[in-house]
Amino acid sequence: MNYGYFDDCNKEYVITRPDTPTPWSNYLGSMEYGALITNNAAGYSFVKSGSEGRILRFRFNSVTQDMPGRFIYIKDQNSGDYWSASWQPTGKELSDYKSVCRHGTAYTVISSGYDKISSETLYYVPLGQNHEVWHFKIRNNDTKRRKISVFSYAEFTSDNSSMLDMENIQYTRFLSRTYFKDNYILQSLKELTEERVFRFFAASGGVKVSGYDGSREKFVGPYGSYSNPLALKNGYCSNSLNYTGNSCGSLQIDLELLPSTEKEIVFILGEGNEETAEMKVKHYKGGGVVEEELAQLKAYWHGKLEVFQVKTPDSAFNSMMNVWHSYECFVNTFWSRTASLIYSSLRNGFGYRDTMADIQSIMHLDSKLAGERLVTMLSGQVSNGGALPLVRFDHKPGAEPVPGSSEYQEKTGYKEYRCDDALWLFQAVPQYIRESGELDFLNKIIPYSDKGEDTVYLHLKKALNFSLERLGRHNLVLGIDTDWNDCLRLGENGESVFASFQLYLAICEFKKIALSNGNCEDVDWAETNRKKLYDSLQKYCWEDGQFIRGFTGDNQVIGSPKSKEAALWLNPQTWSVISGVATHDQAKKALDKVHDILKTKYGAMLFYPSTKTIGPPIFLMSLYPPGIKENASIFLMAEAWIIQAEAMMGHGNRAWDYYNSTNPAAQNDSADLRHTEPYVYSQFIDGLESPNHGRSHGHWLTGSASSIMTAVVEEILGLKADYDGLIIDPCIPSEWKEFSMVRHFRGRKLNIIVQNSGGVEKGVKKISINDKTILNSCLIPLDCMEAVNTVQVIMG
Ligand code: GLC
Repeated sequence: MNYGYFDDCNKEYVITRPDTPTPWSNYLGSMEYGALITNNAAGYSFVKSGSEGRILRFRFNSVTQDMPGRFIYIKDQNSGDYWSASWQPTGKELSDYKSVCRHGTAYTVISSGYDKISSETLYYVPLGQNHEVWHFKIRNNDTKRRKISVFSYAEFTSDNSSMLDMENIQYTRFLSRTYFKDNYILQSLKELTEERVFRFFAASGGVKVSGYDGSREKFVGPYGSYSNPLALKNGYCSNSLNYTGNSCGSLQIDLELLPSTEKEIVFILGEGNEETAEMKVKHYKGGGVVEEELAQLKAYWHGKLEVFQVKTPDSAFNSMMNVWHSYECFVNTFWSRTASLIYSSLRNGFGYRDTMADIQSIMHLDSKLAGERLVTMLSGQVSNGGALPLVRFDHKPGAEPVPGSSEYQEKTGYKEYRCDDALWLFQAVPQYIRESGELDFLNKIIPYSDKGEDTVYLHLKKALNFSLERLGRHNLVLGIDTDWNDCLRLGENGESVFASFQLYLAICEFKKIALSNGNCEDVDWAETNRKKLYDSLQKYCWEDGQFIRGFTGDNQVIGSPKSKEAALWLNPQTWSVISGVATHDQAKKALDKVHDILKTKYGAMLFYPSTKTIGPPIFLMSLYPPGIKENASIFLMAEAWIIQAEAMMGHGNRAWDYYNSTNPAAQNDSADLRHTEPYVYSQFIDGLESPNHGRSHGHWLTGSASSIMTAVVEEILGLKADYDGLIIDPCIPSEWKEFSMVRHFRGRKLNIIVQNSGGVEKGVKKISINDKTILNSCLIPLDCMEAVNTVQVIMG
């Protein structure tokens, strides 16, 4: 069963049935003003932070699905019937009501058809602006004149803090009041103080407002609902304003629609006082403004996506890579894990490891943005080399409290360092330098989060030292709080094999950097530590054809083949290959075991079997039932690493198989099983032990999208930036006989055609650029590149 399709030409996903299993959403706006909208117009808006700048209220986890949102009600004043311009909230019978939702790149269009009246509402945030537009068009398809009233509904929060708005009602209920001015509702918060904030909801486009409600209680009615609000039952707004209680922006516009005619209204919502509101209303008064702004928005986003395009035999792959997966990676980079229908308001910043993955995912799309974010994250490193688990949006380098202190916990909710955070720098920093060519980046001086500053090179060295100073009895990385797995609490004395593989890779990367910097002392230092770590990993961690996951503080093995529960873990197998620790024979055995035991139809599980009897304090994941979240689900961020490891082994078919089994677009027709949007990744999929094996959860903001993007671009498509040029060395399914890609690299455009008539999985026989053959290498040197290039790759 499907609920829609990919319209690749328009870069849109079209939802043809509104009763999707979960709300299928989209993101509008930028880091200045963000907005979420579902296919039924539910969602919320915020200035700069979903947690601290919330304008529109949203009730998470509510029934009916998620409410409220940006509603427009339509009332037939003759018949008395009313409905909404999105299927919800009125929820008319689908036999009578038609709905199509087109989610595009930072805009959404919802169309409705009911009782010979059709409507189309375009929602977007204009580029560089901090307000949103609901451009509403209504058409009479009847042969007779219709008397229609339109009512908007936006429910304001009573405080910028979404948490206070929901929880501290004895306080927030008394902070706001509304005013009506000509054609807009103005809401003020804490008006008599310096902290005052104004929001407005306006109607523009030459329409006359005939009624309004600024009080939610009056619009909805004390016993009304969003599907059945009092104003719609009555057929008019009661011209209410709130003085206590809750504010809303409802404007009533009465229309006489002649047969086959159309009218339009531009609703505008944003933060700002009367002056701002009036200026914005004026801006949309004349015609054509919306069309122009939409065209600019599309040009901007499509331009960002154009720098990387693929055309392969797999259309689901193409739809994801060319539009949705890339767009999701940008959204991740903007909002980290702070604002979705799942992330409510607890976090207010960039999670360290997640953001490092996000940075990597957009490197080939926008290295400038990736570089800027990388600098922020380097300034989130503490002067002892460790990193802040959460770098707040209002981060002030040089003045932040450190993990372990009560101030840091109060500010972020995180107690301690995690052993992996700073280690992710060793992938992102070299990747950035190779992509941008900014060799001097290593000498850039960046402050630490608490005190002092150093060059990037020394930031890296300190990160290594942080780990090397915290090794356990087997000379492996101590868990401290957690490693990548938030639910594995190894404690002060437990050791993580996964993080030790990460440290190994980090040391190798640092050694390369020190070598290129001509720093022989550091090369020797790195080599000594590398060798020691290698010996420990080989001596203590390989057991019966697999790598173990770690040691507890009292020296119990986690992830031993002899264990009854959690016996085989995915991450140590994949990372043994990625880090370069596993010998060829070990790599083959470990990956075969993963394939035999962990692989399911929907991807590889995090471990198997689930934990049932071993619980907290170490195995926090047993809080979840078997097959869910960190307790043996298919945790998709980790799926990226099996794709990567298999590809590094040259196994194109297997790498593809893992990719394809978790590609959301490939499951477009199994929406009833999968539930979440087929155009974005989710955090995890229920594992084998769940009764809902195959269902996915935690849409949009997830490291799954980021890490899988990196694995696909660098390993399957084989495009890796290098210091002197671009490497092209794909590892693909053998059935792909030809595919093409467009990749921009340091301002040059490469049109790449890959031919694989022999049906191999990996191996490049010949590469030529602009008809010039490159000898004995997969690297296309920068100095061979012109502004636009034709590259031919022959596999074999
Ligand atoms: C979530 C977190 C991520 C963590 C993962 C595994 O996705 O956002 O930081 O690594 O869970 O626990």
